[in-house]
Amino acid sequence: MKAIRYHKVGGPEVLRLDDVPEPTPGPGEVRIRVKAAGVNFADTERRRGLYDAKSPLPRILGSEAAGVVLDSVGASTWESSLESLAPFGHLVAYGSASGHPPLVNVEALYARSLKISAYWLRTPHPPALQRQAREALGQALGKGQLRVTLGLVVGLGEAVRAHQQLESRATVGKVVLRVP
Ligand SMILES: NC(=O)c1ccc[n+]([C@@H]2O[C@H](COP(=O)([O-])OP(=O)(O)OC[C@H]3O[C@@H](n4cnc5c(N)ncnc54)[C@H](OP(=O)(O)O)[C@@H]3O)[C@@H](O)[C@H]2O)c1
Repeated sequence: MKAIRYHKVGGPEVLRLDDVPEPTPGPGEVRIRVKAAGVNFADTERRRGLYDAKSPLPRILGSEAAGVVLDSVGASTWESSLESLAPFGHLVAYGSASGHPPLVNVEALYARSLKISAYWLRTPHPPALQRQAREALGQALGKGQLRVTLGLVVGLGEAVRAHQQLESRATVGKVVLRVP
């Protein structure tokens, strides 16, 4: 099968369209034929060596075959996000597209009794919570309350361009690689 891999960390140019063996599912696993793959900001961070840096190379990129992405910017929005909180407000950190936010100054939270927490999709979630979230998402999509905007759809062989566009903030909406 074809896969986008990088053999060393670096800019978008390190991406290669490689031929790799089809994976064999282990116990409790299934193999999924991917028709299209979302390009995630975290993919560009992995490629740059900023995320999952200890994973062995060469590495296949791609963390979503379908998905709706929440926004998280980090460093450049941190102070204004904190400023915008009402008394007893809650700031959830879940990404750092613009760089890591500063260390938390607990003293600055007292006056408005603020709360800061972090969220990571890969933290094991209770199955009931996952089901509830999937259902809520499906309903919102079904009712048209959430709409997925496609920003760029290109072939798998154009992964370099997809990364360049995403990283330079030239796209609006989901970036997708079509798999032949
Ligand atoms: N905690 C989790 O479970 C979780 C899940 C998914 C993603 N993440 C993390 O969240 C972060 C964003 O990922 P995403 O999938 O949400 O990306 P995304 O949908 O592409 O959104 C990235 C956002 O960051 C903004 N941005 C990018 N570079 C910036 C810069 N230099 N200065 C200011 N704003 C900038 C973009 O603004 P423009 O639209 O104006 O360019 C866009 O609004 C990444 O660090 C990713 O690893 C975490």
